[in-house]
Amino acid sequence: MKIGLIYFSATGNTGRMAKVIKDSFEKLGMEVDEHDVTPLSTRQKVIDIDSYHAIVFGCPVHSLRAPKIMREWMRTIDGQGKKCSMFFTYGGFTVHPAHHSTRQILTEQNFIVVSSAEFPGAHTFNHGGWRAFTDRPDESDFDMAKEYTIATFKKFSGEDPSILGELDKSTYSEEELDNFESLRFRVITKLPSRDGKNCSLCMACEEFCPTGAMDAEIGLADNDKCIACLGCAAICPEQALSINDTKGSWDFKLDLGKTTEKKLNMQQGKIYL
Ligand SMILES: Cc1cc2nc3c(=O)[nH]c(=O)nc-3n(C[C@H](O)[C@H](O)[C@H](O)COP(=O)(O)O)c2cc1C
Repeated sequence: MKIGLIYFSATGNTGRMAKVIKDSFEKLGMEVDEHDVTPLSTRQKVIDIDSYHAIVFGCPVHSLRAPKIMREWMRTIDGQGKKCSMFFTYGGFTVHPAHHSTRQILTEQNFIVVSSAEFPGAHTFNHGGWRAFTDRPDESDFDMAKEYTIATFKKFSGEDPSILGELDKSTYSEEELDNFESLRFRVITKLPSRDGKNCSLCMACEEFCPTGAMDAEIGLADNDKCIACLGCAAICPEQALSINDTKGSWDFKLDLGKTTEKKLNMQQGKIYL
C-alpha cells in the first residue's frame, strides 16, 4: 500500500511531525511519498492522487483553521473516494475549528476522512517574543504521532472499518473565522523585513515564500500577499529577517485564552478516531 503524505510547514513543526509519521508508516510496511507543498511552486504541480491507496494531509493551524492557501489548494484536488487522514500542529490556542473545516473541505472534495490529530508546535509568533510551546514538538509528541499512525494504518487497511467520528461542536461561524483570519496583523504589526541587516542574497526566503510575498533584493514582504507564516525568517541562514516585538501582546493573549503560560505549555496533543 502506498500513501501520499502531503504537508505545509512554514517554520518546520508540521514537517518534523510529518517525518515521524512517514517513518512510522514505513515501519508498518507502507510505502510513503512525501510532498512538501509549502513553497508556491510546489502547489502548482499536480499530485497524482490516483497512484495512492490513501492520503495524509498535514497543516499548521493559522487563525483557527488550516492556512487559507492550503484550504484553497485542497479545493482543487479530487479525492476520488479515497481514504484520507489529517493532522495539525498548533501553538497552544484554539485548534478545534481546523478539524471541522478541513474535514468539510476534504469531504466535499470526495475524500473519506478516517482520522485526525493535533500536536503542539512552537508558536510562530515566538519569533517576536511569545513563549508558547517553546520546545515542542518533543518526544512525547513524537510518541503520540506514532500512536496516531498505527490507528490510521488500521483504518487505511480496513482492519478498522470506521471513519472519523463526531468532533466537538465548532463554536465559531464561518464568518467569525474569516474575521479572525483578517486580524493576524494585530500581532505581527511589522512585516518580515531585513532592516539593514547583512544579507548574502542567497534568495532562500524568496524561493521558500508560500505566497510569493517576499522580495529578497529589497528585504521586505509584500503587505497584500504576506500571510505572516514567517517561513522566510525561519529559513534565512543569516537570521537577517525579523518582525516586531510580540512580547507586549503575550500576557493579553494568555488572558484572552483564559490560560497561564504554565498551563498552556503542559498541553498534550490529541488523536481523533
Ligand atoms: C498566521 C498564524 C496564525 C496562527 N494561528 C494559530 C491559532 O489560531 N491557534 C494556535 O494554536 N496556533 C496558531 N498559530 C501557531 C501555529 O499553528 C504553530 O506555530 C504551528 O506549529 C506552525 O507550524 P509550522 O512550523 O509547520 O509552520 C498561528 C501561526 C500563524 C503564523
